[in-house]
Amino acid sequence: MYFIANWKMNPVSLKEAKNLLKNIKTRISKVNKSKIAKIIVCPPAIYLPKLATKNKLLDYGVQNIAWIQQGAITGEISILMAKEFAIKYCIVGHSERKQFLCESDRYINEKIKLCLKNNIIPIFCIGENLEQKESGQTGKVLKEQIFQGLQNVDQRQVKKIIIAYEPVWAISSQQNSQPSNPDSVLEATIIIKKALLNLYGRETSGQIPIIYGGSVNKDNVLDYIGGNIEGFLIGSASLNAYDFISIIEKSLIKLIQGDK
Ligand code: PGA
Repeated sequence: MYFIANWKMNPVSLKEAKNLLKNIKTRISKVNKSKIAKIIVCPPAIYLPKLATKNKLLDYGVQNIAWIQQGAITGEISILMAKEFAIKYCIVGHSERKQFLCESDRYINEKIKLCLKNNIIPIFCIGENLEQKESGQTGKVLKEQIFQGLQNVDQRQVKKIIIAYEPVWAISSQQNSQPSNPDSVLEATIIIKKALLNLYGRETSGQIPIIYGGSVNKDNVLDYIGGNIEGFLIGSASLNAYDFISIIEKSLIKLIQGDK
C-alpha cells in the first residue's frame, strides 16, 4: 500500500522541512514494522540535496521534471539531476500544473516515457474537474487522459506506473473542495481499470496500482480502504507528521484486520 506525501511548495524554510521529515521518520519505524506500507515523500526539489538520502524507512520522489532530459529550458529540472539524489518516483501531470501552468497531455506523456526510460516510477495523476463532473463527463475524461498519457508506453513499461486518481474538485487547495465520496471513487476506479484492460489486457492491467488523492486525512482515510484503492496521494495532511503517520497507521490496522 502506497502513502505518498506531496508537500507541494511547502514548508517555506529548509529548517521546517528537515523537522517535518525527522518527525515522520521517527514515527514510521513504530508504525510500519510489517513493512506493508511503501512511504514516499515528495519535497520541493530545491530541498533534495539536504533531505533525500538513502534510508530504509522511506523513499523520495520529485513533484515534476522537464519533459526532455537535457536542454535550454529556463527554470526546469532534468530527470538526470533528480537522479543524482535518492529519487525513485516522480509525480506527473498533477492538476495544479495543468490548471496554473497549462501542462498538456502531450507533455505528460513525454514525462511518463522519460521517467520509465530512467527507471523512475511515474505517479501519473488523472481526474476530472468540477465542470466535467457536473456535466457527466467523468468517464470520458478519465479514459482520454489515460489514452493520451500512455501513448507509446508498452505492456512491460506500464506495469511500473502508479495511477493516482485525483478528482480536481476534491483537492484541498481548491475553493469549496470536499473529499470525494467513496462510492464515486470506486466508480472512477472501475472506469480506470476498464480503460487499462482495454489497452493492455487483463494480466498487465491487473498489475497497475491505483491510488486516490483529494483531501485525504486521518479522519476519512478508512472510508477509502478496500475496493480498488492501493494507496493515497496526500497533500495538506502530509505537512503534519502526526496526521500523516496516523493515516498510515489507521490504514495498516484496517488492512491487517481485514486479512484475518
Ligand atoms: P490534498 O492534495 O490532500 O491537500 O487534497 C492532494 C494532492 O494535490 O495531491
